Amino acid sequence: MQRSEASPFKATARAGSNIAFIKYWGVADPRLNIPLNNSISMTLGALHTTTTVEWDVAGRLSADEITIDGERAAGPKAERVICHLDLIRHLAGDRRFRACVVSRNNFPMASGIASSASAFAALTVAACTAIGLSLDRTRLSAIARRGSGSASRSIFGGYVEWERGNDDATSVARQLFPAEHWALRDVVAVISTAEKAVSSQNGHALALTSPFNAARVDAVYTMLQEVRNAIALRELERLGPLIEQDALAMHAVMMTSRPSLLYWQPGTLEVLHAVRRWREEDGLPVYFTIDAGPNVHLLCEPAFERELLRRLQTLSSVRTVITSGPGGDAEVIDQHLF
Ligand code: DP6
Repeated sequence: MQRSEASPFKATARAGSNIAFIKYWGVADPRLNIPLNNSISMTLGALHTTTTVEWDVAGRLSADEITIDGERAAGPKAERVICHLDLIRHLAGDRRFRACVVSRNNFPMASGIASSASAFAALTVAACTAIGLSLDRTRLSAIARRGSGSASRSIFGGYVEWERGNDDATSVARQLFPAEHWALRDVVAVISTAEKAVSSQNGHALALTSPFNAARVDAVYTMLQEVRNAIALRELERLGPLIEQDALAMHAVMMTSRPSLLYWQPGTLEVLHAVRRWREEDGLPVYFTIDAGPNVHLLCEPAFERELLRRLQTLSSVRTVITSGPGGDAEVIDQHLF
């Protein structure tokens, strides 16, 4: 990545969120964020984080300053960003520089729409570029993974697989197909935008306490090739049942971990039942997946989006709907946020 000539030590990056078809749930190594299984996602073009990082080479700042969606971050949220900046300082061989970080999401945070994915992908690209680290996407993916697992996938656009790997160098994402390969739509039925009670970061540590975890991980490895094939052939009728199965398997693991995690709300079930009814009774080809929150992501071909939106409006628990197609790679942009 090229550093901006106009403002050395300052860079801005934009990264899309992503929706996982095969989920990342559970860590084998919490320090390095090595997951229990490969995961596959679509990077979202319309839901993104923009982040500007400026390294304070003049030494004016006594601490990193982090602003997210207009609010100065403090506590664990800020510490997580500082920890990531520490990693990048370490890689750049300079531990003294403090940073000013301003980040903006164009969608609600902590609502089951993976804001940590786009946040840590954008932070990684902006911070590395601003400090002069010239790295390829594979390396950026490994760094982003340390901040947030799913962020490793948001470094790439289109359809992406994060290889579990077994160390820092091998646990990286790669692009399976670019965004142009398939104009699939993700229609998010938003049930709640409230901050979730248990972050996915804390949830990952609990996966191993579920008696169903090992069975889910085994099932993932039997499905990966089928999922890749379905994406290659652009066959939603093949992909859909697989992504629904893994979403339900992940939530079964969540519900049966100790302590138990229950992210669903009554509205979540209203959408799941409606989607099945629409598919079985009316032949509407729509399939669901759910991340660590109550909102339901619905995947469909563009031709069915309008009808799906019309039907979602009839469900009382759907507060709003956000839609996106696949988006591109995380990238450096010229418009700084400060
Ligand atoms: C349910 O990547 O948010 O969305 O590494 O702790 O930041 P951290 O977790 P995160 O976990 C994502 C969990 C998920 C499934 C997925 O996106 O694969």
